[in-house]
Amino acid sequence: MNIKIAPSILSADFGKLNEEIASVERFSDLLHVDIMDGHFVPNITIGAPVVRCIKTSLPLDCHLMIENPQDYIEDFVKAGAASITVHQETCKDLRRVIAQIKSGGRNVRAAVSINPATPVDTIADVLDELDMVLVMSVNPGFGGQPFIENALGKIEALRAMAPDLDIEVDGGINAKTATLCVKAGANILVAGSYIFGAKNRKQAIASLRVF
Ligand code: DX5
Ligand code: ZN
Repeated sequence: MNIKIAPSILSADFGKLNEEIASVERFSDLLHVDIMDGHFVPNITIGAPVVRCIKTSLPLDCHLMIENPQDYIEDFVKAGAASITVHQETCKDLRRVIAQIKSGGRNVRAAVSINPATPVDTIADVLDELDMVLVMSVNPGFGGQPFIENALGKIEALRAMAPDLDIEVDGGINAKTATLCVKAGANILVAGSYIFGAKNRKQAIASLRVF
């Protein structure tokens, strides 16, 4: 499968966000935008009004780490999201939220994420409805945390269940963990601190294209 790289702007300088994005745009496939509410995760980032101000030709991959995501989906669609990821742990009726993301012929891709402590079985019944699964390889909330290895077994299990599904992995991705994730079956790699903290961002991104 073709490997896609999604820099996470969480580790970028928000004071010059569009310049930061421009520095990685040519070498990347998606732009990963982390939305945090201070409830589901112990950190707060940005909302739809800021997402609307992002200037890029890359598809916006919006990762909603928020309670009650169903109340904000329309805002992120209007702000330009190409894909919207909600967390399994925040949805009482996952199937309904997935349908909401995909409704109205807007071509917004629907994804569900699972935390390190959430088993793959919790999303097995909705895989057919999804465009992508996001396997968290850190507890969400902050950039720069170490990779949690149990993500690899989950990626393998998901790949066996859904050979053609996009499987994205997020948290602690560097050249070494990227190789492990791709071998396990992931095809989209999110990386924040590894890319934005690098002296040479182009080189850092190239080092993640392991196959
Ligand atoms: C963490 C976010 C990630 C974060 C990853 O909760 O979902 O997207 O930016 O950061 P790194 O790549 O530094 O682990
Ligand atoms: Zn993320």
